[in-house]
This record gives sequence, C-alpha cells and structure tokens, in this order.
Amino acid sequence: MHTTFATTYLFLSAALVNGLAIGPRYITERQKLDSYDYVVVGGGTAGIAIGARLSERPNINVLVIEAGPVDAGDDIITTPGKVGQVMGTKFDWLFKSEVQTAANGRVINVPAGKLVGGASALNGMCFDRGAAADYDAWADLGNPGWTFDEILPYFKRNEKFTPPPKEQAEFYNITWDPSAHGFDGAIHSSYPSYMTDVARPWRQALNSMGIPQELDGHNGRAINMFWAPNSLDPVNVTRSYGKTGYYFPASKRSNFHILTDTVVQKLIHKTNVDGSITVESVQYKGGSATAKREVIVSAGAIGSPRLLQISGIGPSPLLKKFNIPVAVELPGVGSNYQDHPFESVRYTLRNGPPATFPVDAERLYRTNKTGPWSASGPTFYAFLPFPTITSKYRAILDKYLAQKPDAYLPAGTDPTVVAGYAAQQKVLAKHLASDLMGATEFIYGGSGITLSHQHEFSRGTVQIASTDVNVQPIIDFRYATNPADLDVLVESIRWIRSAYATPIMQALQPIENSPGASVETDEAIANFMKGQMTTMYHSCCTNPMQPRELGGVVDSKLRVFGTTNLRVADASVIPLIPGTHIQSTVYMIAEKAVDLLLEDFAKFD
Ligand SMILES: Cc1cc2nc3c(=O)[nH]c(=O)nc-3n(C[C@H](O)[C@H](O)[C@H](O)COP(=O)(O)OP(=O)(O)OC[C@H]3O[C@@H](n4cnc5c(N)ncnc54)[C@H](O)[C@@H]3O)c2cc1C
Ligand SMILES: *[C@@H]1O[C@H](CO)[C@@H](O)[C@H](O)[C@H]1NC(C)=O
Ligand SMILES: *[C@@H]1O[C@H](CO)[C@@H](O)[C@H](O)[C@H]1NC(C)=O
Ligand SMILES: *[C@@H]1O[C@H](CO)[C@@H](O)[C@H](O)[C@H]1NC(C)=O
Repeated sequence: MHTTFATTYLFLSAALVNGLAIGPRYITERQKLDSYDYVVVGGGTAGIAIGARLSERPNINVLVIEAGPVDAGDDIITTPGKVGQVMGTKFDWLFKSEVQTAANGRVINVPAGKLVGGASALNGMCFDRGAAADYDAWADLGNPGWTFDEILPYFKRNEKFTPPPKEQAEFYNITWDPSAHGFDGAIHSSYPSYMTDVARPWRQALNSMGIPQELDGHNGRAINMFWAPNSLDPVNVTRSYGKTGYYFPASKRSNFHILTDTVVQKLIHKTNVDGSITVESVQYKGGSATAKREVIVSAGAIGSPRLLQISGIGPSPLLKKFNIPVAVELPGVGSNYQDHPFESVRYTLRNGPPATFPVDAERLYRTNKTGPWSASGPTFYAFLPFPTITSKYRAILDKYLAQKPDAYLPAGTDPTVVAGYAAQQKVLAKHLASDLMGATEFIYGGSGITLSHQHEFSRGTVQIASTDVNVQPIIDFRYATNPADLDVLVESIRWIRSAYATPIMQALQPIENSPGASVETDEAIANFMKGQMTTMYHSCCTNPMQPRELGGVVDSKLRVFGTTNLRVADASVIPLIPGTHIQSTVYMIAEKAVDLLLEDFAKFD
C-alpha cells in the first residue's frame, strides 16, 4: 500500500483523538513514508537538531534514523551530579582505540553516545565556545562563511541562556556579555547553584601572574580566564540535551518521523553521467528510506567516516582492501582525526581549605534541587595562549613549521591529505603565535590541575575493519606521534609549576605528587605525559571541511565532494579542533547546516 504522509498523519491523529498513547513520534516500518524531503542518519547531537529544525517548516517532512533508543529519562542521564555514569552502559557504543604506540602502548576507551541526542546525553555539560581565532582558522583553510562573526548567530540560535543570580555572580565574579548569548534557543545554558570556592586562590594566583579574566568566553575571547555555563536546565535542574531541546518539540509535529534502534548499514547510490553520485536510499536492517531532496549523515566522528567508507566514499586503497567499489575517491574520509589529549598533575595542599562536611547530596537534590548532585562539570576555565605559557613559543612553532608535512603522518598518506596538513600547519602556527587562541586548557580542582592540549599536531585515523557497520572501525588517535605535541605539553607542565610557585599558591603549601618534582628534564616530563595521555572525549575532524585538493571531504556548504545530494554535519566536519569543549560548536554546525539545506531547497523541486 502506498502510505502517504497524510494517511500517516491521520493514523496518528486518530490515535490521539481515541486517547491512545501517541507519545513521542517514533514510527514503525509500516508507518514510514515512501520518501521524505530529508533523511538524517544519526539522531545524535547534530542529527536531532537538524531533523527538529527542518520540521519547524510545515511544508517539509523529515525522517531521522538513530541507532539507539529514546531514553526513558534515566537518572544517570538527567541528574547533573551523575555525569560520567552513562559511559559504559547500553547508551554507549563502547569503542576502544588501537594501541597507542607513541603514548606508551595503551588502549583507550572511546565512549560514543548511542541514543537520541547522542553524546549530548553523555557529556560533561561544559557549554563553552572556542575563541574567534579557532573558527577564523577554519575560514583560512578555504571555508567562506565560517569566521566567528559569521557563525555567531548559529551559536545563539542554539542557546537559551539564564544568567546567574546577582548574589552568586557577585560572590564569584561571574561576568557575561549579553550580546554573545542566545536567549530563546533549544539548549539551556546556566550556572549550577552549587559551587565550591576551591578555585579562588587559583584565580587570584593567575591574576597575580598577569592573566586577565575575560568578561565572557562566549564572545570570541575564550582565552586567559573566564566563566562559562553548563548545558543545564535551570528550572528543573537537569541536563539540557538533544532529547529535551530538539526531540521533544519535534516529536509533536506530524512532519517529523524518527526510526529508533535502527542502524543504517549503507548509502545506496547511482552514478551520474558526469561521474558524480546521487544517493537513492539509505539502507538499514529490514528496510530502506529515500529522500526527495537530501540525505544528511550525522553519525558522529567515528560513525560518519565508517558509513561513508562502507558506502564506497573514501580512500580507494582502503575500500579495495574490502572489495568495496569506489563510488567517490575521497582520501580524506577517516583522516585528520583530532582530539584534546588530556592529562593531570596532582598536588596535596598541606594548608588547603578545610574539607567540607559531607552532605546528604541525594536528599538535597531530590527535595530541593540543590547540593552537589545539582552540578556537573566545571564552569571556570583557563585557556592560555602559547606566548603566555612559554617564552619558547616562537622556537617551538618554528621547529614545527620546519617539519616536512608528511613527516609524522601515517606512511602512504594521500598527497591531497598531506597538502591539507601542510595548510593546517601554517594556519595553526600563525594563530598559535598570537595571544588570541588558547593553546592549553587548565582546569583547577583542589587536588591538582587537569590540562589538555587544544591544538594537537598529531593526526589520527578512523578506518573500517569490515563492511559490516556493526563492527567497530579501527580508531587510532595516534597520540604523540608528532613530537611537537610533547614540546607544548612539557612547557604546559612547567607553566603549572610556575603558577604553584606564586606566593598565593605557596601559602597553601602544595606538594606535587605526580609527576613529582624529581621529574625535571624535558625528556622525563615528556615520558610522564606519554604514559597518561588520554581522551577528553572530543573526537572530531575525520571528514574535514576543506577544499578537495586539500584532502577535504565536504565543502564549505557541508556537501560531500562528488555527490549531488549528500551532506555531512556533525563533529566530523570540523577541519581543526577548536580550543573548547566541542558540544556547542557541534550544535552551531547543525544550526548552520539547516540554513545551508534550506538555501538549496528549491533546487530539488
Ligand atoms: C563522555 C563524553 C563527555 C563529553 N563532555 C563534553 C563536555 O562536557 N562539553 C562539551 O562541549 N563536549 C563534550 N563532549 C563532546 C561532545 O558532546 C561531542 O563532541 C558531540 O556531542 C558530538 O556530536 P555529534 O553529533 O558529532 O555526534 P553524536 O552526538 O555522537 O551523534 C552521532 C549519533 O549517530 C548515531 N549513529 C552512528 N552511526 C549510526 C548508524 N550507522 N546508523 C544510525 N545511527 C548512527 C549514534 O548512535 C549517535 O546517536 C563529550 C563527549 C563524550 C563522549
Ligand atoms: C572580575 O571580572 C572582570 C572581567 O569581567 C575582571 O576584569 C576583574 O578583574 C575581575 N575581578 C576580580 C576581583 O577578579
Ligand atoms: C526538565 O524540563 C524539561 C523542559 O524544560 C523537560 O523536557 C525535561 O523532561 C525535564 N526533566 C525532568 C527529568 O523532569
Ligand atoms: C533549598 O533551596 C533554596 C533555594 O534554592 C536555598 O536557599 C536553600 O538553602 C536550600 N535548602 C537547603 C537545605 O539547602
């Protein structure tokens, strides 16, 4: 039977009238339409935002296909203080990295969301943005339309900001720039009522070193020190994420359909006379879906390159290994993998603030929405420019610039990908020499500092291990394969030591436990770093937005090269990882993707 959109709508309306559970608008194979204007693969952070925004136009119908379920409001997802507990559950793809040979041979867990909302349901709720230079660098790589000034409206479109109450703002000196925030977007951003003041001496110590507190990190100055909110609903004090912000409103619309618990296996396409391909359908176990206009792949930094490669879009040597016919030769698919390698330095404070009394955290949260369970990640950050960290910055960058571009890329890397890396090398070195881009992030917690390298020079890969989409691809961060990364990290540890050497920190009588003061030479510090480098969960950049001759996978309108109706929009299209926690950047990409899709809406009539 030819199920029209109208009959599906009537079926659902009838259910509503008859008082049947209409609930969220997920559909069964039987209720699915013959075709949709848009089919979105992956209902994660970006995918659910794109599907929901498109469905705000009543004349457009959209299908989102998500591998995981809609969560049932599980406590581990919604309660801010339970952050981290979703990892390792059924909502996680449970990926593991390759052995990190340049980082002391360790295997690292790579959590990835498998539910509606994707990683936005798993993440630490840090809700900050990169500095203007981070996005201007994308534009420098040949992406018109992506300078910070041009993308700021999309950041705002995503955000619903609630400023902190006056007393809290005054006590902590939380400042903000209203012109940089969105106030009626989908995702709540706010400050938890529960904050400890352990970082006060740290803020004062940095201030004594001449590091200013910026008015706001959201306005392009995510450098030096600043406050930034969490993705936190201030009304019921729960996580604000893809499900609450985008899925719930969309699920009330008859033109929004979602197939959950459905893994897309492959994109089916035909080849046109000019050699380009057109995606005809999206295949999953037990069925397929077609798009009248476009297909958008939003399967994340691991899932998106995997699906493209399985579908014959990728590097031909890899595809040939699995006897996959090469539909579009795109060497960049699965290349350029970046993250924020993450480390910690631990201290004991012999004269630190007294331990706070244990509180009945659960009861406070349940009865009053306050206390430790009402708070998740950090809200105060230092993202220091390289010249602030070390006077050796120029020498280190010159050494980096002198590297042959392919010197530390995997053997046999395609020349276009090497050319892209060469372009990135110049752009990165230019911005890192300025005092407008964060090089290392430092987060203070009483027992030490976590630091993460914001612009690693190493590049990893994501490559299929099978033509079966259910087999995890080979995920190789290739941490520390470029020795220049260690130069930055060694200087970052030396800077931490200089901060602890200030009179304000010395008054706390700190002892460095790890790596420990005896770890002194550059080589010893580098060794320590290699032994503990891990992921900050910011996997990205595996389908870079860059010109095709620079190993790019999508153009500046997120269209996959060599295709007529296929886009990618998620963390994978980022060309250079920005100096920030990346969720709001991913939302921004999704909000902008919607405008780019709508621009071409009539082209497919
Ligand atoms: C544990 C963790 C903590 C983090 N903490 C923070 C933080 O505090 N602050 C911050 O800013 N960022 C944080 N991040 C990063 C940020 O949340 C992610 O970068 C971002 O959410 C990724 O969005 P995405 O749309 O690219 O991918 P995802 O949100 O991962 O969405 C991809 C979706 O596609 C689905 N999918 C994949 N393959 C298929 C297929 N073949 N068929 C159908 N569906 C498929 C997946 O199930 C998933 O739902 C964290 C990430 C993690 C994992
Ligand atoms: C408070 O924040 C502002 C930035 O908005 C900064 O200029 C000022 O120095 C800060 N005050 C203190 C006491 O840290
Ligand atoms: C909190 O409120 C939002 C709406 O603002 C809602 O979507 C969400 O389900 C609520 N969360 C809980 C756990 O009640
Ligand atoms: C309950 O919440 C209110 C307002 O948020 C707060 O003033 C009060 O101290 C809280 N009660 C307890 C016991 O923490």
